Amino acid sequence: MPFTIAIDGPAASGKGTLSRAIAEHFGFAHLDTGLLYRAVGRRVLEGVSPIDAALALRAEDLAEDGLRTPAVAQAASKVAVIAEVRAALVDFQRAFARRSGGAVLDGRDIGTVICPEAEVKLFVTASAEVRAERRWRELIAAGHDVALDDVLRDVKTRDARDMGRKDAPLKPAEDAVTLDTSALSIEAALAEARSIVEARLR
Ligand code: CDP
Repeated sequence: MPFTIAIDGPAASGKGTLSRAIAEHFGFAHLDTGLLYRAVGRRVLEGVSPIDAALALRAEDLAEDGLRTPAVAQAASKVAVIAEVRAALVDFQRAFARRSGGAVLDGRDIGTVICPEAEVKLFVTASAEVRAERRWRELIAAGHDVALDDVLRDVKTRDARDMGRKDAPLKPAEDAVTLDTSALSIEAALAEARSIVEARLR
């Protein structure tokens, strides 16, 4: 039986960490759909056209090495505006969502466009300042020399682009439960998400 958990939210809201932990806890497969857009964005930075890059995406392009940089994140949100790019990535995501054994997908449009029939929909958010600080710490830990102010500006630019686009804009699905993690530890957010999933599984 398919069982889909859709986890959407703005940049660096903690949805990746939460999705991985939820998938591990329930033994579900996990797809970070942001990696698809990041992989297309990286190909575009290398000079490939966005639509060609999306149509030719291969599994090995999703190896995380080099995909989690600020430049690739911005390129990802630019290609994510293009309807043909999004369309090229839909079938793969839908098939993943409805695989048997359960799936967790995190992104921007999972509960609204990719899998409106998802059994659980979470919208994970936090203030821009909290999200920027989390992302800044991650980038510093990964060896990137970045300033907090620049990360905050990047996060805000990307959110505005993601929320303002015509095709599959970032917004909570009507039936999504919003988790504001501004003042929640990852453990507390995880406990809340887990109880929502458990209630639906029963
Ligand atoms: O990790 P972070 O939240 O910073 O970003 P991400 O989830 O890796 O997504 C990178 C970019 O891909 C976003 O800013 C979106 O523009 C785009 N994206 C999207 O449009 N739809 C998705 N389902 C996932 C990502």
